[in-house]
Amino acid sequence: MDQLIISEGGALSGEVEVSGAKNAALPVLCASLLTAHPLTLDNVPDLRDVSTLLRLLRNMGVDTERTQHRVRLSAEGVHQTVAPYDLVKTMRASILVLGPLLARFGQARVSLPGGCAIGERPVDLHIKGLQAMGARIEIAHGDIVAEAKRLKGARIFMDTVTVTGTENLMMAATLADGVTVLENAAREPEVADLAHCLNAMGARIRGHGTDVITIEGVQALQGAQYRVMPDRIETGTFLVAAAATGGDVRLLGVQPGSMDAVLDKLTEANAQVTCSAGQIHLRMRGPNHGVSLRTAPYPAFPTDMQAQFMAMNAVAQGTTVITETIFENRFMHVQELRRLGANIEVEGNAAIIRGVNRLQGATVMATDLRASASLVIAGLIARGETIVDRIYHLDRGYEKIEQKLSQLGAHIRRHSREDS
Ligand code: UD1
Repeated sequence: MDQLIISEGGALSGEVEVSGAKNAALPVLCASLLTAHPLTLDNVPDLRDVSTLLRLLRNMGVDTERTQHRVRLSAEGVHQTVAPYDLVKTMRASILVLGPLLARFGQARVSLPGGCAIGERPVDLHIKGLQAMGARIEIAHGDIVAEAKRLKGARIFMDTVTVTGTENLMMAATLADGVTVLENAAREPEVADLAHCLNAMGARIRGHGTDVITIEGVQALQGAQYRVMPDRIETGTFLVAAAATGGDVRLLGVQPGSMDAVLDKLTEANAQVTCSAGQIHLRMRGPNHGVSLRTAPYPAFPTDMQAQFMAMNAVAQGTTVITETIFENRFMHVQELRRLGANIEVEGNAAIIRGVNRLQGATVMATDLRASASLVIAGLIARGETIVDRIYHLDRGYEKIEQKLSQLGAHIRRHSREDS
């Protein structure tokens, strides 16, 4: 199992290129199931989650060809509409095959994802939405078994904002008979990115990026070529790493317009942030002030950036509070940050962080994707050496993180251990 070894270093500085967004790439890869024609995707990040999803699609008979950041998919020869447990359990986003399979083939059997480290994360809204579109769905032997001759357009209200739920229903509705209206839909940029890709394939979607999305079903979709949007969470992670170390970095190939809440908080933390087309430049003005924040659906502050800010706040002046409103168990990094000397108390869904002068290096364990990123940031600002264990979580969502951080001057290396 690989580890990252991080030694105390100075301020990060320099330029780094951001990869395509994991959370945009996963749904557009699933969109390939909606057509018999080839879909070519560019800027697909080289991540473990992408490889897992490609394995799942190939298992169904999708022909895939991957060269660097381009993936060409052809779902002409799909021979089975099943997503088995051993593939779904490693990646919850596999649920995104449910809507497309049902819409195009009239049937799907997808293993229930079950709980995960950061919370219960049910998929009831995916199921209810498809039922409202006329699907017959039962749970059998741990699988969602769905059937529908042809889905019918419907008005669907979701009482919780769900990103993959919105994406699943939006994909299903592209081939339904009639008009579907998704109310209280997720406004995340990745949802809009998927809509752009689907429209390029001939879908008729309006309102993406707002909380009411209207989809007029069509008979069939075509192939297309589409470029996946840049990863706003990777961008945010590098910006926080730069801010925490008192750095001066320029991120390239980014979409600053999708990051207002994060950039606002970085400015409040005492960073000077300048955006231009495709670039963000961050330079710390002086000591890091730390920021209190509350996670909520887009355009508010993203839950996927909470852990990274907590690492930065751990060495900021004064006391800050981070409130998590999306997932019920997303403070697992707290224990590990404490091992590095952070002073953090958790009360319900709030973490109270009292800034300390310095963190001290230690061996810590990555527990989930974004928690791992926070441990890496903590390692960059800790005195001495920090070893982050179990970094397979990090490899699910960050492309070449150690290379990119090294490029910015960090002392970080990967150690591959053969023994486990
Ligand atoms: C997506 C992102 C993930 C991010 C999360 C919240 C992908 C692949 N993953 O996850 O990185 O942290 O959005 O921004 O895009 N819920 C229900 N019933 C449902 C579905 C969700 O109650 O049927 C609840 C969840 O338990 C959670 C909330 O809704 O409390 C939001 O979850 P959701 O937006 O669905 O997260 P994901 O789409 O799984």
